[in-house]
Amino acid sequence: MTGTAKLTYFSHWRCPSNIALVKYWGKHDFQKPMNPSLSFVLQNSFTETSVELSKDSDQKVEFYFEGAISNFGERIKKYLIQLSGRLPWVSKYNFRIRSHNSFPHSAGIASSASSFGALALCLTELDFTLSGKETGNPDFWQKASELARMGSGSACRSVYPGFSIWGKTQLFETSGDEYAIPVTEGISPVFSGLRDAILMVDSGTKEVSSSAGHQLMTDHIYQRSRIAQAHENINELYLSLLTGDQEKFVAVVENEALSLHAMMMTSNPSFILLKPNSLELINRIRQIREKSGIPVCFTIDAGPNIHLLYFQENELEVRTFIERELLTFCEDGKWIDDGIGIGPEASPKPPSRQASPDPSEGGE
Ligand code: DP6
Repeated sequence: MTGTAKLTYFSHWRCPSNIALVKYWGKHDFQKPMNPSLSFVLQNSFTETSVELSKDSDQKVEFYFEGAISNFGERIKKYLIQLSGRLPWVSKYNFRIRSHNSFPHSAGIASSASSFGALALCLTELDFTLSGKETGNPDFWQKASELARMGSGSACRSVYPGFSIWGKTQLFETSGDEYAIPVTEGISPVFSGLRDAILMVDSGTKEVSSSAGHQLMTDHIYQRSRIAQAHENINELYLSLLTGDQEKFVAVVENEALSLHAMMMTSNPSFILLKPNSLELINRIRQIREKSGIPVCFTIDAGPNIHLLYFQENELEVRTFIERELLTFCEDGKWIDDGIGIGPEASPKPPSRQASPDPSEGGE
C-alpha cells in the first residue's frame, strides 16, 4: 500500500485442512470432480489468512507467507483474475494478503486446501460486506466453498465443520460439482472423536503435483470403474457414519486409499508414491487391528505419508502402539497429532508472523 492508499476493508479467517476418506481424483471442466468425495476437517492443521483491500491508482496483489513475500503470490493473482466473473469488485482493489500455516510445508498435509479455504472465506466475507449482505447464512458458506474450489478442488470441503461431501451423489439432492455440502445430521457419536495421527515418512517435494495427477485420470484405462467404485464407496461410507459401523468404515477407507494409489500406479505415465516405510506402516496397522481387534485404519493422500485413523475410546492403546511400533518408520520420528475439527472461524487477530512449527516428535 502506498502512503496515499486508504485501508478500506479487512477480513481474517482461520481454515483447517481436510483429509479425504473417499478420494477426489480426476477432473472435468473447470475444477469439477470426476467423482464425489467425502472428507473431514482437521483441528490442529490450519491456515490463517488476512486480506486487506485498499484503493489506489496502481492495482497490485502482495502476498506474504509466514511474514515474507512468497512466490505463491503468482498463483493467487491468477486465482483472483479467474474469480472476477464471480466477484466483479476484485479488479478495483489492491490486495495485501498475509498467510500462516500451523503445520510445516513438508508435513504432507494438503496446504492448498486450508490456504484456498481461508482465502475464499476472506473473499466471501468481503463480497458480502461490499454488497451489504448478511454473512454466516447457508448462502455464505456455499459461496465460500465454491470460491475455494476454484483455487483447489479439495479446498471446497474445508469450509465446514466435521464431515463434508463434494460432487454430485445420489445421497443428497443438494450435492453438486460446484461446491461441497456439510454432512452433519445423523452422524453416529462414534465419529465425534475421530483421531488422525499423521505419520511422516518422507517430507521431500511431491513427485507429481495434484493437478498433474488429476490429469492422469482423463484417459485412464480404469476411469469408468474408478468413478463407479467411488459412488459405491461413498454410499457405504455414509451408511457406516450413520450406523456407527466401524468395521465397514475401516474397510471402505483403506480401499479408497489403496485405489487412489492403484490409479497412480496404472496411469500413463505411472507413479509409485509409496515408500518402503509407507508399506511397513500399512502392514503394522493391519497387524495391530487383526491382533487386538482395535478398529484402526489408514488413509493416504497423493504422497508417502500415512494417516492413521482411530477412535477416541482407543486413544491410550493406539498412542502406545504409535510410540512403540510406528515412529521408527517415520522420518526423524516425526508425526502430527490431529483429529476431526470444528471447522473454520473468523478471527479479529491477524495471522502471527512466526514460522510454522516443526512436527513434534511424539505428538503434542
Ligand atoms: C489425493 O485438491 O490438491 O488429496 O484441485 O488440482 O488443487 P487441485 O487438487 P487437490 O487434490 C487433492 C487430491 C487428494 C484427494 C482428496 O483430497 O480428495
